[in-house]
Amino acid sequence: MSNYHVKTLEEYFHVYRKSVRNPELFWEEIAEEHFVWRKKWDTVLSYDFEKPEFKWFEGAQLNITENCIDRHLHIRGDKTAILFEPNSPDEEAEHISYKELHKRVCKFANVLKDQGIKKGDRVCIYLPMIPELAISVLACARIGAVHSVVFAGFSSTALATRINDCEAKMVVTSDGSYRGAKTIDLKSIVDEALENCSSVKTVLVAKRIHSDIQLKEGRDKWLEPLLEEAYQDCVPEIMDAEDPLFILYTSGSTGSPKGMLHTTGGYMVYTAYTFKNVFNYKENDVYWCTADIGWITGHSYIVYGPLANGATTVMFEGVPSYPDFGRFWEVVEKHKITQFYTAPTAIRALAKEKLEFVDAYDLSSLKVLGTVGEPINEEAWHWYNDNVGKKKNPIVDTWWQTETGGMMISPLPYITPTKPTYAALPLPGIQLALMDENGKEVKGNQVDGRLCVKFPWPSIARTIWGNHQRYKETYFSAFNNMYFTGDGALRDEVGYYRITGRVDDVIIVSGHNLGTAPIEDAINEHPAVAESAIVGFPHEVKGNALYGYVILKETGETRNQDNVRKEINQIITEHIGPIAKLDKIQFTEGLPKTRSGKIMRRILRKIAHDELNNLGDVSTLLNPEVVQSIIDNRL
Ligand code: WTA
Repeated sequence: MSNYHVKTLEEYFHVYRKSVRNPELFWEEIAEEHFVWRKKWDTVLSYDFEKPEFKWFEGAQLNITENCIDRHLHIRGDKTAILFEPNSPDEEAEHISYKELHKRVCKFANVLKDQGIKKGDRVCIYLPMIPELAISVLACARIGAVHSVVFAGFSSTALATRINDCEAKMVVTSDGSYRGAKTIDLKSIVDEALENCSSVKTVLVAKRIHSDIQLKEGRDKWLEPLLEEAYQDCVPEIMDAEDPLFILYTSGSTGSPKGMLHTTGGYMVYTAYTFKNVFNYKENDVYWCTADIGWITGHSYIVYGPLANGATTVMFEGVPSYPDFGRFWEVVEKHKITQFYTAPTAIRALAKEKLEFVDAYDLSSLKVLGTVGEPINEEAWHWYNDNVGKKKNPIVDTWWQTETGGMMISPLPYITPTKPTYAALPLPGIQLALMDENGKEVKGNQVDGRLCVKFPWPSIARTIWGNHQRYKETYFSAFNNMYFTGDGALRDEVGYYRITGRVDDVIIVSGHNLGTAPIEDAINEHPAVAESAIVGFPHEVKGNALYGYVILKETGETRNQDNVRKEINQIITEHIGPIAKLDKIQFTEGLPKTRSGKIMRRILRKIAHDELNNLGDVSTLLNPEVVQSIIDNRL
């Protein structure tokens, strides 16, 4: 029996037990059998939750692109590696074979080298979902440069913050992007960001929308001519297993985003293993994850995990609503998609539309459906199961995080019986714990608590770039000797997990992590705003939407409140991006505060949820009287 591919429930339990009894042996066998190493490791794992420090496969040497590309060339050189489906259904899809991918990644890698990029340098990638995005990611990995992809929906301020934090030497972008019927001028967002980024020496610009843009002399270069001239082979840089692979920023509960650092060997082994098992990937399957590569889902399950398994992975440039709400299903039929992985927010948006959009297409190629990013509600689960899966495809509800690098809790399709809204069981190698508020583990079933992981797994983020102390405080200080996820969860009578949501100040809107602090900081920049607090409230499509409580400055003038609302959202769009706009803004005289001055978000959250008879004790507040006025004026 191979550890690598679990085929029955019995095998799952057997493998899981083995992975707990002897984690080192378990991962060592997988690493040995299924990957190409230039040199084997000296130690499988060493770790210390106190420091905290985690090292997997120390002493080993490899290049992840050899595992994702080169080793497939003999057996599946002509197989499609990346299948690019453009924004417009009228534009032809592009099938990039493993051979072609090899050539394009090598050429890109040589361009990076020619432009002075060396091992360890950071390269910021700000691109739409076009092949160059995956290719530039792999090109960085080829030469040992550390990629930091920034989602191309982020504003110039958010982009600048991320570039400065990791001191990127280069930005890779495009002349613009398509988004449904619209085009977006990415290059001017980059130009604006770079006014405040001194580390960037070079900007490579890919042509996508053929718009008329300005190149800044000495800094900006068209990518295509450089690629044309570049040599088509590039010897991979030999990396240590613990050398950095990429930085990816995620929101936290304080102002600045956290640059999660992932390293090479463990990340590769874990994403490949989980991809194979959670999607039950078979050689001729065509796998499609609708996420953007700007998020961890895209890194792990569009690029690295699938390619390490020699899979065909789809990259979709468009949106689910263009040219109409049938687009996803049209693409499924067109490319005979076998595994389809998306977010609950997309499912809810599509479930609101007419069923004809789904029924018009032949979805019989589908074998496995997946979701990720936020809890999926029962209704959305059933809609997905009934109408897309026709009750025959298992749904894998995969729980994980930017920090975990790969999926942690998920059913295995055709193996684990699914239960709506439950992510089910931990994957092999993942040892979970539920903790109570006093730091004690809650044992047994039919219990809930704070979700923690008590043993290291290969793809855990190793640090926060430039701030190891924050890494320690955020993830390893709440409970001793374990990783705290920030999520709450319950464990049912058979041991299945259901994620109940964040327990910290992070709100998940349409599957995007938004920290309250940076949004409040943005709101407070409005000249009329004295103070603000935001909370999430349930939203039919987005899962959560944002509700802002705003105190205006006493200036004596009367302001048009609707204008202030618009201006606040404008500032948020500029600082963070349109995803963080507030749905509701209530002006208030005060905010409920503890005696130490901390805003009691719990109370604001309950008011926004309309749970008024359950506010708890407000008498300990500094200003209990403000609560009634907030209730009276709620939106
Ligand atoms: C939430 C995305 C419920 C959770 C891969 C987590 C989920 C955060 C699920 C991480 C799920 C993700 N069920 N909640 N299946 N998947 N989450 O870093 O709160 O963008 O902590 O990683 O999303 O979001 P991130």
